[in-house]
Order: sequence, then structure tokens, then C-alpha cells
Amino acid sequence: MPAAAASSHHHRTRLRSRTAPLLLLVVLAVFVVTELLRSSSRGGFTASARRAGSSPAKANHSSAAPRKILLDPDFTPRLPRQSPLSLSLSARNALPPRNTARFPALPDGHLKIVLYVHNRPRYLRLVVDSLSRVEDIGEAMLIVSHDGYFPEMDKIVQGIDFCQVKQIFAPYSPHLFPDTFPGVSPGDCQSKDNAKEKRCKGDPDQYGNHRSPRIVSLKHHWWWMMNTVWDGLQETMGFDGHILFIEEDHYIFPNAYRNAQLLVDLKPKKCPGCYAINLAPSDVKAKGEGWESLVAEKMGNIGYAFNRTVWRKIHAKAKQFCAFDEYNWDITMWATVYPSFGAPVYSLRGPRRSAAHFGKCGLHQGQGSSNVCVDNASGAVELEEIDKVPNIKADWPVRIIQRQEGYQAGFKGWGGWGDRRDRELCLSFAYMYHVKDQSPA
Ligand SMILES: *[C@@H]1O[C@H](CO)[C@@H](O)[C@H](O)[C@H]1NC(C)=O
Ligand SMILES: *[C@@H]1O[C@H](CO)[C@@H](O)[C@H](O)[C@H]1NC(C)=O
Ligand SMILES: *[C@@H]1O[C@H](CO)[C@@H](O)[C@H](O)[C@H]1NC(C)=O
Repeated sequence: MPAAAASSHHHRTRLRSRTAPLLLLVVLAVFVVTELLRSSSRGGFTASARRAGSSPAKANHSSAAPRKILLDPDFTPRLPRQSPLSLSLSARNALPPRNTARFPALPDGHLKIVLYVHNRPRYLRLVVDSLSRVEDIGEAMLIVSHDGYFPEMDKIVQGIDFCQVKQIFAPYSPHLFPDTFPGVSPGDCQSKDNAKEKRCKGDPDQYGNHRSPRIVSLKHHWWWMMNTVWDGLQETMGFDGHILFIEEDHYIFPNAYRNAQLLVDLKPKKCPGCYAINLAPSDVKAKGEGWESLVAEKMGNIGYAFNRTVWRKIHAKAKQFCAFDEYNWDITMWATVYPSFGAPVYSLRGPRRSAAHFGKCGLHQGQGSSNVCVDNASGAVELEEIDKVPNIKADWPVRIIQRQEGYQAGFKGWGGWGDRRDRELCLSFAYMYHVKDQSPA
């Protein structure tokens, strides 16, 4: 506020109370005009952030930066033309959550839980069964995000009755496009084809391989889902709490929901430098140390939860995320996005896990191939009594695990993400809820 230049506090207050509305009006008017000019010079490109209204009043813009959505004026998002199936799934995405009559009001401080799935019904049944036993799960809203349309997966999700359920389908999943991008289109290069010799379409990755829709679908889905749950859904757009993310092969312990809430509450006091909370160690095979302390370590990929402030930071790195030649979303985050934050990205967790990865079949095995990977996950997770009740104590200290092994800045990626079209689609997902007009591809 320019009024801050006034000398006495008393004077300042009076001055501000009289001039503030006027000043605000002027600042807002300047802002609107600037935005109009910017958007007209870009041909209808509307880059104003949803929360932009709160930033102009601040004198120091850098402190408001994470709330503002930074968009590249030179990038025009393009989304593939939708098939009838894709359109029908988009329509389903707009449906309200189910089970609202049974769970009419979600309490303050509740978590949203996003379960992202592909096509392993045997696993999903087990995960849903584990969720049904989670203490107080009825307070949560479960959002299930599907990569591809698979009737059996759909049916399992429609059968969930223990909390509010919002079902969404990635409408641009390669699995929905049998003969056009993001699926395989005629004329696409394959494996190590030489594009010039074969006159085929595509850009090879750093190892000379062309894109495989089955493989790129994972990172596309994760990124589409992140953008959608934070910025695209009526149900979550104004949500200021934490969203917890789990996958179709994560067994969730009965104490998971309450433990997650405890960790969220303790995070600001116990670990102000932590970005997130985790339900399990970052080493996916570890069960935890059993210490009488909390643990801060690098972000893991099982049961992680963070808030919108952190999402804004991630979203601001959309270019890095989308341009990095690595088909795994988590390795992309560890190798490019987190290191770019400038400080170690710690996550807070308990000393015993509240979720466990049980799948023996990788995502690339299994469905659709001749050697179907069969793993009924029996005996994968043994629960002790202590895992059935909240088992995190507020008076515990925090142990910080520094300098951990694993992917980090400098790793150049496993490839699989070299095609310009994938990078552009990825970036389009980051822009689609912030830019009014997308040109149809
Ligand atoms: C704005 O805030 C940042 C950090 O919050 C600080 O480094 C910078 O010096 C401030 N700038 C001004 C003009 O006050
Ligand atoms: C979100 O979490 C971050 C990291 O823990 C924290 O710094 C920030 O204050 C939180 N934001 C809100 C709005 O609670
Ligand atoms: C799961 O698979 C194991 C062998 O891998 C088998 O012994 C067991 O009976 C199966 N359980 C169910 C419930 O199908």
C-alpha cells in the first residue's frame, strides 16, 4: 500500500481506511485493463489467475507469487478431438459425487482422497476393501480417477458405499484413442525407426526410441488428474485442505485416515520445512523404523498428501515436468521438479507405515499381454493390532533423514518421453483450466 509511507501508525490507519477502497478500485482497474490488453495481444488468450484478485493489493509481489498462475503467452493449449466415448466420459466427470444422502456434510478438516487407477480389478477390489475398513473414512470424499475405460473397474467403483465418491475418467487417455493421438496413429514411428528414412511421425527419446502410448499414459494420467482435482472440479476447486493420493495397488491400513490428519495438524509445528505428509516410507518396501518419533524424509509415492500452496509450486514447474525425458511421473518429480524448489523437499510421516504397496505385477505387465501377470496379493500385507488405531503421538520429536539415495537432480531420465506431441499435451493439461479458448487440434 502506498499509504504505508505515512509517518505515524495512527495517521496511517486513518488514511488507509479512507483511501483504501478508492486505491483498491484504481489498482483493480489498472489490473483489468492490463489483463485485457495482454489477452487481446495474444488473440483471446486469457491468462488471469483464478486468485489473481488478491495479489494486486500487495506491495511486495514476490510474496504472493505462489498463488499466481504463471502461464507462457507463447503456448497455446491444444486438446485432441474427443471421440463419442471420450465425450461421454467427460459428461460423467461433471456428475455430482455419489452417496451424498448417506454422507451429507463433510466436516471441517476432512481430507479428500484421490485414488488413481488403470486396469487391475483384482487389486482395486483389495484396495476398496481396505478402504472400507478405514476408521472414519465416511468423513472423506473419495475421488477415483480412471486411466482408460474398463467396465469391471467402473463397476467396482460404483459399488463403493462407505463414503462420498466422485468418479472421474481421463478423457484424453491414450487407452481411449485406438487410432489417433494420444493413441497410436497411422504413420507413427515405432521403437527405433528412423523418422526420415521411414517418413514416419514422431520424435525419438534420448535413447532413440519412439513413443509408446501404453507407457506414456501413466505420466499423462497423473498430470491430468493433478490439474483436474486441484483446478478443474467443482467439488475441490475451493478446497483449502490436504488431498491424499493413493494408487490401485496401495493397501490402506485402518488407521490411515486419522494418522494422515494427525500428520497434517502436526506438520506446521513439527516440520515447517515439510511440503507434504506420507503414509509410508519413501523406500516402498520399508515398513518403518518403529521409533518413538516422527520422520521427515524425501517425499515418497505411497499415500502422499499436500495442500494447494504446494500444488501451485508444482504447477509453476509444468514446463520442466512436461519437457523432461522420463515416462515415470514420480522420477520426473524427484529429478526435476523438487530440486527446482531450491530447498530439500521433505515429507512428514509416522514411524510405522499406514499404507503398503502390494502389487507384484508392474503396470506394463498384466492386462492385454499374453503372459497375464496374476497376483491376488494374498498375504502381501499383515496387519498388527497397532496398525488398526491411530498410532502417532503429538509429543514425539522429529528425526530428519538427510541425503537419501535415489533419483535426484542430475538424473537424465529413463526416456520414453521424447515425442513433442506428448510434451505439448502434458503442457495443455496444465493450461486447460486457466485459458478460456483452446484451439481444437
Ligand atoms: C519481497 O519479499 C522477498 C521475500 O519474501 C524479499 O526477498 C524481497 O526483498 C522483498 N522485496 C521488497 C521490495 O520488499
Ligand atoms: C500448505 O502447506 C505448506 C507446506 O507444509 C505450508 O507452508 C502452507 O502454509 C500451507 N498452506 C496453507 C494455506 O495451509
Ligand atoms: C492367491 O494365490 C495363491 C498362490 O499365488 C493361492 O495359493 C491362493 O489360494 C490365492 N487366493 C485367492 C483368494 O485366490
